[in-house]
Amino acid sequence: MRARKPVAMYDSGLGGLTVLAALRALEPSADVVYLADTAHLPYGDRTLDDIARLAANNISRLLEHDPRLIVVACGSSCSAFDAHGWPSAPVPLVGLVEHSARAAVDASASGNIGVVATQATAKSGVFGRAIRRLRPDARVVEAGAPALVPIVEAGDAREPRAAIAVAQACKPFEAAHCDALVLGCTHFPLLQEWFAQTLGPGVKLVDPAQTCAQEAAKLLLGGASGEARLIVEVTGDAESFARHAAALGAPPITELRQLTPR
Ligand code: DGL
Repeated sequence: MRARKPVAMYDSGLGGLTVLAALRALEPSADVVYLADTAHLPYGDRTLDDIARLAANNISRLLEHDPRLIVVACGSSCSAFDAHGWPSAPVPLVGLVEHSARAAVDASASGNIGVVATQATAKSGVFGRAIRRLRPDARVVEAGAPALVPIVEAGDAREPRAAIAVAQACKPFEAAHCDALVLGCTHFPLLQEWFAQTLGPGVKLVDPAQTCAQEAAKLLLGGASGEARLIVEVTGDAESFARHAAALGAPPITELRQLTPR
């Protein structure tokens, strides 16, 4: 018997597709509704107040689908909710921070841990607090990398300019001799090869998409069978989003919907 209630998830744009891919690997039959709020991208350059308002809008839109749970596949939204309180919802809301912090603490031998994220997330200090709750003596360097989200959104994640921008973004973590780096924005796993190339095998990369999807899968407990549907809703240019998503290897979209920005 097929469980029809979908998993809902959102991001400002393409970044949450990293969480979708990780979830599909664990739960191949789960139907997914993915909301991309590209009309308001990038979230990471906004204030936490502004991000919290947009994020709450996204959650109320996704609740219209009567989902099993909602994955907040956006580090900037998690930062804003950490500052303003998570909205109450009738289904579980799964974020990125706690499980990535755990993975970072497990990955680091030295306790020098880096977090590369959007400006909003880095300034909020949310990952640093979560890491220090688990390892109080950790030395955490949180740095924003505002150039990276626009590069991914332009479809240039595999271009040389992405490698150059990642190398620049890694400087504070190299200077601090970090041996683990949390990719604290869901867009950044799409640049993972450049981070690995810049930092080398001595630095373990923590992919928030993996940890977040594992958490969501634990709550889902299987239950679906057959071919999964993927509904994609976009507040900006839906056709352009779908083209870029396909180029990044996203699964085929069953239904693409254009939404009015709120
Ligand atoms: N992918 C999101 C995050 O994890 C948002 C990036 C942005 O829009 O700046 O922070």
